Amino acid sequence: MRAVLSKAPGGPETLVVEDVLDPTPKAGEVVIEVKAVGINYPDTLIIEDKYQFRPERPFSPGAEVAGVVEAVGEDVKGVRKGDRVIAVPGWGGLVERLAVKAETVIPIPEAMSFEEAAALIMTYGTSYYALKDRAQLKAGETLLVLGAAGGVGAAAVELGKAMGARVVAAASTNDKVQFALDLGADNGLIYPTGPMDKAAQKELSGEFKLATGRDGADVVYDAVGGDYADPALRAMDWNGRYLVVGFPAGIPSLPLNLTLLKSVSVIGVFWGAAVARDPKGHAANMAELMQMYAEGKIKPRVSQTFPLDKAGAAIKALGDRQALGKIVVTVES
Ligand SMILES: NC(=O)c1ccc[n+]([C@@H]2O[C@H](COP(=O)([O-])OP(=O)(O)OC[C@H]3O[C@@H](n4cnc5c(N)ncnc54)[C@H](OP(=O)(O)O)[C@@H]3O)[C@@H](O)[C@H]2O)c1
Repeated sequence: MRAVLSKAPGGPETLVVEDVLDPTPKAGEVVIEVKAVGINYPDTLIIEDKYQFRPERPFSPGAEVAGVVEAVGEDVKGVRKGDRVIAVPGWGGLVERLAVKAETVIPIPEAMSFEEAAALIMTYGTSYYALKDRAQLKAGETLLVLGAAGGVGAAAVELGKAMGARVVAAASTNDKVQFALDLGADNGLIYPTGPMDKAAQKELSGEFKLATGRDGADVVYDAVGGDYADPALRAMDWNGRYLVVGFPAGIPSLPLNLTLLKSVSVIGVFWGAAVARDPKGHAANMAELMQMYAEGKIKPRVSQTFPLDKAGAAIKALGDRQALGKIVVTVES
């Protein structure tokens, strides 16, 4: 089978497509014929050895896949050949066939395409865990989402609306803000693309305050970091919750005096570790997300697809800040 492989640390241009042996299922495993692979920011980091996990090389990136169960190992219950399923292996997904533990696969609802299914779990899983379990977002509260047209950001916009919040979307271009408004955001603003000096940060904080209303945001969803973090923290309301989700723009340092002045909690979000520590909570969240999908409250937006041979270009487009919603690699075997 074909596999996209990282054989040395580096950017997407270092990835190679090679023929490797097909996997066979061990006891408790199933082999999935992969149809679609969701691309996520961690794919840009893991191939450069900049992610929390450093798999042994050669390895394939690709954190989440959707496909059809092709073979079932011994002692597997509840999953059958031919089932349409999602798996979130973390890496290893940019391949034609993938062996995973049967107990980890999630059935795909009939109405959901493989592309949507491959774009659902990491982004909505992360954002639902962040907003519901970590921030305890309540109906009527104001949620400010930074990077609102990206993968996790767009999911946070939709989930914030589904949870009854007033959502303010912030992103770097007019198209991105419009994309977030089309997802249901109540208000939006464009922020600068590059680094900001103190004056520019102060100005942005004023714009965040104007857009969120006089009292500021109850919850900030920060999947961007960098120079955007300080202005967002300054634009928070009393008892605000600041969600630390990701740092494509760099790891910021926050002035802790601001948290004291507004009684703000800074809350770390590590969805992958939370899933491993609380599988039951994760399963409950997944069931709620599938229900929201069935009710039309959420819908992954796949704006670009690439074939498996062009997976490097897909990862590059995401890293270059070009994605609107999700980029997905489709696999024809
Ligand atoms: N904590 C967790 O459990 C968890 C789980 C999944 C992902 N994450 C993290 O969340 C972040 C977003 O992931 P994603 O998959 O949603 O990525 P994505 O689709 O690429 O979205 C990231 C957004 O960051 C913004 N951005 C700002 N500066 C950037 C820069 N220099 N380069 C690239 N993008 C920049 C872009 O929006 P603008 O152009 O509008 O600024 C972009 O839309 C990543 O840091 C990822 O590692 C965390």
